[in-house]
Amino acid sequence: MPELPPHDIADLGLAARGRTRIEWAEHGMPVLGLLRERFAAERPLEGQTVAACLHVTTETANLVRTLAAGGADVTLVASNPLSTQDDTAAALVGEYGLSVHAVRGEDAEAYYRHIDVALDRRPTMTMDDGCDLVNRLHGERPGQAARVLAGTEETTTGVIRLRAMERAGALRYPVVAVNDTPSKRLFDNRFGTGQSTIDGIIRSTNLLLAGRTVVVAGFGFCGRGVASRARGLGAEIVVTEVDPIRALEARMEGYRVMPMADAAAHGDVFVTVTGNTSIIRGEHLEAMHDGAILCNAGHFDVEIDLAALEKLAVSRRGVRPDAEEFRMADGRRLVLLAQGRLVNLGAAEGHPAAVMDMSFADQALVMAWLSTEGPPRAAGVVDVPPGIDAEVARLKLASMGTAIDVLTEEQETYLGSYDLGT
Ligand SMILES: NC(=O)c1ccc[n+]([C@@H]2O[C@H](COP(=O)([O-])OP(=O)(O)OC[C@H]3O[C@@H](n4cnc5c(N)ncnc54)[C@H](O)[C@@H]3O)[C@@H](O)[C@H]2O)c1
Repeated sequence: MPELPPHDIADLGLAARGRTRIEWAEHGMPVLGLLRERFAAERPLEGQTVAACLHVTTETANLVRTLAAGGADVTLVASNPLSTQDDTAAALVGEYGLSVHAVRGEDAEAYYRHIDVALDRRPTMTMDDGCDLVNRLHGERPGQAARVLAGTEETTTGVIRLRAMERAGALRYPVVAVNDTPSKRLFDNRFGTGQSTIDGIIRSTNLLLAGRTVVVAGFGFCGRGVASRARGLGAEIVVTEVDPIRALEARMEGYRVMPMADAAAHGDVFVTVTGNTSIIRGEHLEAMHDGAILCNAGHFDVEIDLAALEKLAVSRRGVRPDAEEFRMADGRRLVLLAQGRLVNLGAAEGHPAAVMDMSFADQALVMAWLSTEGPPRAAGVVDVPPGIDAEVARLKLASMGTAIDVLTEEQETYLGSYDLGT
């Protein structure tokens, strides 16, 4: 057996099962597959040491395989203590020879110890999902920032944190906001989070959504997806928002819109997906009816006030995998899914491969661009170049066998002119 790379994982014995599942995901990721072949031939990441802090799923496995094929020396650690698939981690180490430090259910100490291992490798590039890695590097090892050429960020919350760092003058190298590019955000956040959040709710409860009231807090890119998928299964949707445009959009989509203070008494299922904190608080928990189900699809476990839930409860017990029932003093039971962490990754498998194909093709192409051409500025939050976005959409359409029209010469002239009117 060849020597194994440095690792800290739950059980190497799960490697064979993990490999089968990684191969299954690979079938759903044709664009990334094409890029992996291209990377193997062109080696755009030769000489780069990459610290990747991502959800350790089968789709991520195919991304890190692509980076390695491109010549990168990659270390993968988890971006959430509960999202690691232990068989995937085992396969990456045992079957693909890649360095992984991640264990499902790891505590905060292990979580940051693993991030530190990736930083000990003295990365020249970072790939982050939620900004914990970048934050750790800047906070604990500021001297290392000068060594980093650039990084990428996968999710909305991470981009929000990076922009705050930039405003404070604290961000010391360029980070590309992969999340914000249309070929990522319009598909991954919406269709990916939409479907996989419902998947997590159903796997952990086996609930019939038809005829239920689902309260979706936050009608952003993710919230729109969750609301439309839940409606598709026959649920009545209530949206809570703080942004008047988003609230109006939800209303005109035909959803009910109200403050959480009112929604609390109506909901059978509550899904927070705001990227903000303390969305469901003690006063809301007090108003909920017996059996109400609570879950979160936003990046951090701060959207449901877990301390308030624990304080109000007189007892608690696990009722199904990833579902915990809290009994209130008045006898009501509230059920929390996946410990209030990302329900789609904690209680299901995260986004399906077909949508991660696009997000991770964006990631791979951005990393190659940064490595071969160099970042456009010395520090700050950087947009994905439009060429990359269009290429990913074109390749995805081609993989789906979908052709589109092309502008005729006459149409191009018409669109470029201003003298043709009524
Ligand atoms: N579960 C996943 O796999 C997954 C995938 C992508 C993004 N995310 C995370 O989901 C969260 C949302 O991402 P997004 O792309 O939809 O962001 P977004 O900015 O498009 O949407 C967030 C919405 O929440 C609203 N909001 C903020 N505070 C609120 C409050 N107090 N009450 C009600 N609404 C409030 C905002 O007005 C906004 O419309 C982020 O944390 C992001 O990182 C999770």
